[in-house]
Parts: sequence; structure tokens; C-alpha cells
Amino acid sequence: MPPALPRKETRLDPRLPWLGGVRRLLSPMAGVTDRAFRTICRRYGADMGFCEFASASGLTYGGENTWKLVDTDGEAGLVGVQIFGADPEHMRQAARLLSGRRLDVLDINFGCPVKKVVRKCGGSALLADVPLLERIVRAVIEGSEVPVTAKIRTGWDEDKVNYVEVGLLLQELGCAWVTMHGRTRAQKFTGRADWDRIAHLVESLDVPVIGNGDVVDGESYRRLVGHTRCHGVMIGRGAMGNPWIFEQMKAVDEGRPARTVTFAEMCAVTADHVRGEVAARGEGHGCLVVRSHITRCFRGYPGAAAFRKLLFDADGSAALIALLDQAAGLDDPRVVAGDAG
Ligand SMILES: Cc1cc2nc3c(=O)[nH]c(=O)nc-3n(C[C@H](O)[C@H](O)[C@H](O)COP(=O)(O)O)c2cc1C
Repeated sequence: MPPALPRKETRLDPRLPWLGGVRRLLSPMAGVTDRAFRTICRRYGADMGFCEFASASGLTYGGENTWKLVDTDGEAGLVGVQIFGADPEHMRQAARLLSGRRLDVLDINFGCPVKKVVRKCGGSALLADVPLLERIVRAVIEGSEVPVTAKIRTGWDEDKVNYVEVGLLLQELGCAWVTMHGRTRAQKFTGRADWDRIAHLVESLDVPVIGNGDVVDGESYRRLVGHTRCHGVMIGRGAMGNPWIFEQMKAVDEGRPARTVTFAEMCAVTADHVRGEVAARGEGHGCLVVRSHITRCFRGYPGAAAFRKLLFDADGSAALIALLDQAAGLDDPRVVAGDAG
């Protein structure tokens, strides 16, 4: 059996007795990590799932759509809620309003690069305004009854790389862990996530660091943890259309080869996902969400592109499920897509 993955000894928050066992986390992703998808990822080995980020102002004003994003009532398994905003009072209020609800940690988003969020000084903009970031963290910790964590990028841009300064501050203020996506805000999703910087943050902090960026399979998971000794890894895009990534990661953790997921199983899980999304978001929106997964699913199978197109063009959830059910009985997408020639 290969040696266990290295992990730096860190100071674990006594309020999180389960944290020692957590390695594989589903990253928060707007429009993606709703309960239906979190549930599927847990089934395949995710230790913890994060909700899509929610605006603290939206929660404070009682916005129905914002509250839906953090609906975790009765959810089984570890779940994190993430909030964003630039107004410390709204952040405190949102943390208070979440008290008594079903969440294991409350995460603060300091990484979102999207203009709509940054323009209002939320998300990654706070990396360039450390005094305001500090006020926000203090306010959330005061308002929250569950441990608070934070998710950052390496800095605003290459001239303002400040992850060690921010990480040490977050630790001092009482964050239970720090997640870092190894890119600056300026990079958005371009270039490669800088795992050297994640390793540096791990070395610099006493609290756990969750590494994030560009892990796409069991092998890249093994390399990131081997390189950084981080406590755990958050998976974002690598899980879209591929919840089985958590199974591959689990196999790495347990020192055994990963099983091959069959085409039939991919179809069955995707059909399940369609049902879950449509139940949660309604027919139109639900199908739209599943399409973003379908573009990344069935990779490696001959004829997968034609099969994906067929699914993409399907008119509604019933047609989608019928196609998936039909395909699940086969082991070759070319037959369904009429692409066998
Ligand atoms: C569609 C999409 C939505 C995202 N939404 C969020 C979000 O709500 N909160 C957050 O902290 N990060 C968000 N992210 C960033 C991811 O959580 C993650 O940090 C980033 O994609 C890098 O990890 P990866 O290489 O595993 O995808 C989002 C990313 C994508 C692609």
C-alpha cells in the first residue's frame, strides 16, 4: 500500500471534531453546487459540500431567491454555507440570521473575481482592502454561532500578492481554516493555479489550509497534497459532469486503484441529476443547470460529443431522461447518437 498522503499537523478548532477526517470538499460554485449536486458528490465520496455563495445583503433583506441558495434544512452530511458582501453590518446580520440553521461552517468569500461582485467591493476586491476585510471577518465571527472559515485568492494581482498577510490575519481573527485558490483576481481562471503559493501558505499558518485550483482527477489530487501538505482539497470545475472525481480521490486516500465508472452509470447519475434539478429549480432552469454538466460528461467514450449534442438539444427533462435511460441500457453512446458508422 502506498504511504498515506502527507498532511501538515495543524491546530484544529475544537468545535469541529470531524475536521481531522475531512479531505475532499466540493467547492462552492454559483449555479452548480445546489443540494441536488451536493448530494450526488457526497454519494461518490465528497466529505463536505458547499452551497452556492449568497449575498449577505440579499439574506438581510429577506430575498426569497437568496435564501433558497442556502436551503440546507434536513440535509445529511457536512455542509458549508458561503456569504459575500462588503458591508460589515449586513455580513454580521446574515451570520445571525443563519444561526440555528443546518450548516457546519460559515465561509466568507474573498475570492470572487466577477465584476458585479467586485464593483460593490465584495469577493476578491476585499483582498485589496485589508482593513475592510478585517472588519468583515470580525463582524461575521461575532454574528455566527458556527465556526467561520474564509476562501481567498493569492492576491488582487501580481503586484499585490498578499495571501500570507491575509492568511495570518484570518487565523489571528479566529477563522477555523483558510481555503486558497492559487490564482490572483487578475488571473480570473487563466494560467495555472500556483501550488507553490498554496504550499507556502500551509507552511505559514497554524490552522488548516484547504488547497484549491486545477485538480481534475485522483492523480492531480495526489500531486497537490504531496506538493503542499494541505489539509484538504476543494474541487470546483473538476466535479462538473464528473462527481466521480471524489471516488478517485478517495481511492488515492485509501491507497487503492480507482474503479472505472461505466457509461451506463454515468447515464443513470445524470438522469438522477436532471430529476433533482428540475424538482429544485423547475423545468426550464433545472434543464439549463444540467446542460452545464453535460458539456463536461461522458469524456473518453467514442461518440461522446455526438451524444452530448443529442442531450443538449433534447426538448425538456422528460426527453433528456428518456435518452439517458435508453443509453443506460447500452455501453456505447454511438448507438444512441446514431454515430456508430
Ligand atoms: C461556475 C463557477 C461558479 C463559482 N462560484 C463560486 C462561488 O460561489 N464561491 C466561491 O468561493 N468560488 C466560486 N467559484 C470558484 C471555485 O469555487 C474554485 O475556487 C475555482 O473554480 C478553482 O477551482 P477548480 O480549478 O477546482 O475549478 C466558482 C467557479 C465556477 C467555475
